[in-house]
Amino acid sequence: MVDQAARLRQLVDKSEYEAQRAEPVSPPSLSAMGPRVIAITSGKGGVGKTNIAVNLAIALGQAGQRVLVIDADLGMANVDVILGSMSKKHLLNLLEQGTELKDVLMNGPYGVRYISGGSGIEKAADFTYEERQRLIQKLTACGQMADIILIDTGAGLGKNVMDFILAADEVLLVTTPEPTALTDAYAVLKAYSMYAAQKNIKLIVNRVYDETESREVVVKLQQTSQRFLQMNIDCLGYVFEDSAVMKSVRQQQPFLAAHPNSIASRCIQGLVNSILYGSKMTVKRGWKGFLRQIFNFAH
Ligand SMILES: Nc1ncnc2c1ncn2[C@@H]1O[C@H](COP(=O)(O)OP(=O)(O)OP(=O)(O)O)[C@@H](O)[C@H]1O
Ligand SMILES: [Mg+2]
Repeated sequence: MVDQAARLRQLVDKSEYEAQRAEPVSPPSLSAMGPRVIAITSGKGGVGKTNIAVNLAIALGQAGQRVLVIDADLGMANVDVILGSMSKKHLLNLLEQGTELKDVLMNGPYGVRYISGGSGIEKAADFTYEERQRLIQKLTACGQMADIILIDTGAGLGKNVMDFILAADEVLLVTTPEPTALTDAYAVLKAYSMYAAQKNIKLIVNRVYDETESREVVVKLQQTSQRFLQMNIDCLGYVFEDSAVMKSVRQQQPFLAAHPNSIASRCIQGLVNSILYGSKMTVKRGWKGFLRQIFNFAH
């Protein structure tokens, strides 16, 4: 890790930057195969995952998509906090006989539907066969309710986070331009390159001051992962540094709702366009495949 960090910092200082290619355009994905399962993750904590997940959910909803957010960050119920909402039950309550999907599925404000992960999900692989089956049975119905399932994971390389990103069909890796965030993002890319069967990971660069800064970050990570991991990564887009984000967090309102014309909100619209009309979809496991992998069922 020290080695990677040193190399990356060298690259950060010395690389020559290439202009980034434009994303190819294709029609929006259809939900005939079930929902797209997209994990939003990061190496370093606090880089903006939850804000991006919640605001993306709102904007995707406004674009006509049925979205479900799963808060899989075990430390804190972050999605609740950003929405100024409070869920009574979380995902693991589904283990109880009398608790059904409708009891854990929150119809949050701004049209955001979400499920709180709650602590304990990291032990999913240790649950009994019956417990895992019960969770899968109850959660399978989410597949019919959503076109896109966004999973807000914790930061870092913990087993739980890796399980989520390896089970998802698409991964969005959020970083800021800070060297520490870049180094940690690279560590995630490295682990992902080693363990992911199908590689589909894209970068979101948050808190940039201009497009050039975003492009520089992307080229650094692209060059490093091409050279050392032989893995190509694309960029989904970027979000500008914007005081409206912090203000909205304090008000416990998503910035897309509180400040719809802010620069950060406009960036979210850009990300939505990339998600819906961006590069072609690859083969996907879908929601059922995601659940089976998370709960460690043989395929
Ligand atoms: N584009 C931005 N402009 C300004 N501030 C931002 C921006 N994005 C995030 N922030 C600040 O960073 C803080 C952390 O954001 P957020 O909680 O979304 O990060 P996170 O990656 O989900 O954190 P954690 O790893 O703890 O779950 C926000 O409360 C806000 O103050
Ligand atoms: Mg978070």
